[in-house]
Amino acid sequence: MTALEAVPTNRPSAQRDIPVRRLGTTPDVSGDDWIVAGDPIFSHLLASLSAVFPNGEDFFVASVRRHRDAVADQPELKAQVKGFIGQEAMHSRAHRTLNARLAELGYNTVRADKTIGRICSAILGMRPKRLAIAATAAAEHYTGLLAETALDHEPTRKILFGQEAIEPLICWHALEELEHKNVAFDVMVASGGGYPITVAGFFVTTTALAGYIAVEWGRSVFEDRHKITAANVRQFLRNFPRQRLISVPFFVDAFKYLRPGFHPDDTDTDALIEHWRIELADVADTPKRSAKGSASS
Ligand SMILES: [Fe+2]
Ligand SMILES: [Fe+2]
Repeated sequence: MTALEAVPTNRPSAQRDIPVRRLGTTPDVSGDDWIVAGDPIFSHLLASLSAVFPNGEDFFVASVRRHRDAVADQPELKAQVKGFIGQEAMHSRAHRTLNARLAELGYNTVRADKTIGRICSAILGMRPKRLAIAATAAAEHYTGLLAETALDHEPTRKILFGQEAIEPLICWHALEELEHKNVAFDVMVASGGGYPITVAGFFVTTTALAGYIAVEWGRSVFEDRHKITAANVRQFLRNFPRQRLISVPFFVDAFKYLRPGFHPDDTDTDALIEHWRIELADVADTPKRSAKGSASS
């Protein structure tokens, strides 16, 4: 298997700080309405997505840790791995809190969490052992795209994540996904991962994620079918073309991952990161520690 070219250290991501912040708010979601106002169909999609994160992010951390030795001689990336692990641990915790609240409100986050746990365990046990980091690198490509869409496209953010208790959590999580979007990919490359395993990881993640979302979202909507009114369906149909989470451009961007030579930095999101670091300064704690991407800076 041919290793991908070593990732040049002058890429934007090689210089990036990966600070670990604590979210200053608790996602105390109101039960007065669906989490997407008037729209149980998109609400169930969001609950299904949120249920991915606790076990999903624990899996990302386990995959990256498995190859920690491969970055021992790259101090910048080693420091970024530390930041990545810290950020994902905080996300996992915040989504556990959110998911527990969603379960109280009747969403099926407990069942979904178990399903994701089983999927992640299965991928961690697959051979070759490098497949898990390749699946993680692909999953981070998806979370990076979700993050970019949420932060850069206001209608998507307001329609899908507009509830007061959810928006800060989503924006904080999205900002940090952009900050560390290169890490799993660079660890995969450092561990000797070549194009075939990159593609295999992408197909494992895409199949698992698409299958999970289709089944869990569909099942949740079906189970709540008696609560869904004609007005709810009209709201979903109004929301659908205005959001970009499920859209043709999103899937086109997702499949750019398969281009030989792809790197997460191919899309420059540094201006977006800078904007949201300022925007969220009051929402998330001052960094306790930071992983400096550049040892020389
Ligand atoms: Fe995360
Ligand atoms: Fe992530």
